[in-house]
Amino acid sequence: MKIFLNKNKLIKIIQKEKNVGFVPTMGAIHKGHISLIKKSISDCDKTIVSIYVNKPQFNKKSDYLRYPRNLKRDISMLKKNKVDYLYIPSTSQIYPKGQKRKIKIDSFGKKLCGRFRSRHFEAIADVVDRFVNIIKPKKIYFGEKDMQQLKIIDDFIRKNHKNIKVIGCKTIREKNGVAFSSRNFLLSIKEKTIASKIYKLLKNRKRNIINNNVTLKSIKRKIYKLGVIKIDYIEILDINKLIKPYINKNRYKIFIAYYLRKTRLIDNI
Ligand code: PAJ
Repeated sequence: MKIFLNKNKLIKIIQKEKNVGFVPTMGAIHKGHISLIKKSISDCDKTIVSIYVNKPQFNKKSDYLRYPRNLKRDISMLKKNKVDYLYIPSTSQIYPKGQKRKIKIDSFGKKLCGRFRSRHFEAIADVVDRFVNIIKPKKIYFGEKDMQQLKIIDDFIRKNHKNIKVIGCKTIREKNGVAFSSRNFLLSIKEKTIASKIYKLLKNRKRNIINNNVTLKSIKRKIYKLGVIKIDYIEILDINKLIKPYINKNRYKIFIAYYLRKTRLIDNI
């Protein structure tokens, strides 16, 4: 695996490649990231991963500072999984002229997490666009774990980079049902048990919620009882109606964002 810290050196090598798969990450690599990498390796001639904790997409400085970082472990996991290139840029390479730039995304960016994290998805589209202009990949890989991000970036890339394809990959979960996430590194064992109970509750009650036999209000009450401090939202949406037709038989998804102590977790089930 070749590691690049320097943008110009990377451009020289990567832009010669014809069939590049790109997996953008913020590091603290886990099995969710690895599943995207495996898909890219099987689809493309070369796979590049980026690790960059993108400050503008965080709404609170404390959340940015608290975000888990473990570069040494990340590098060894990526090497083991046969990644071709790793790009670890500095902020001045990604934002050489500062961060001010107009980015237009679909109005779906104002819903769900967008209601609680102002300009979060604009900042993500912005940084992905900056990476894409350096790497010029054929395909970019995103996880369904962050369904709203996947849908917004897919729409953004369709409109702005016609020859790049966004590939959505299914959510990878631990045995207890909890979706792998870098933020799980911040959870205590007790908090992980609560997260697992929430997953099981939503999975078991999903049918009843869709059929209106159980209200989201009563589900919310149960979740608070489990020890959750705050639920930002819990909503059930038809994902075929988000942004553009999206053919998926399993149309209805429960979207949730909640806090366990200071850690904000999201999922869709
Ligand atoms: P990060 O949270 O590191 O996630 C990188 C990619 O891994 C995202 O596409 C995310 O959806 C996917 N992913 C995370 N957990 C997953 C799981 N359990 N199963 C499947 N895929 C999973 O998302 C970001 O970084 C950033 O917003 C980024 C796109 C890098 C822009 O800064």
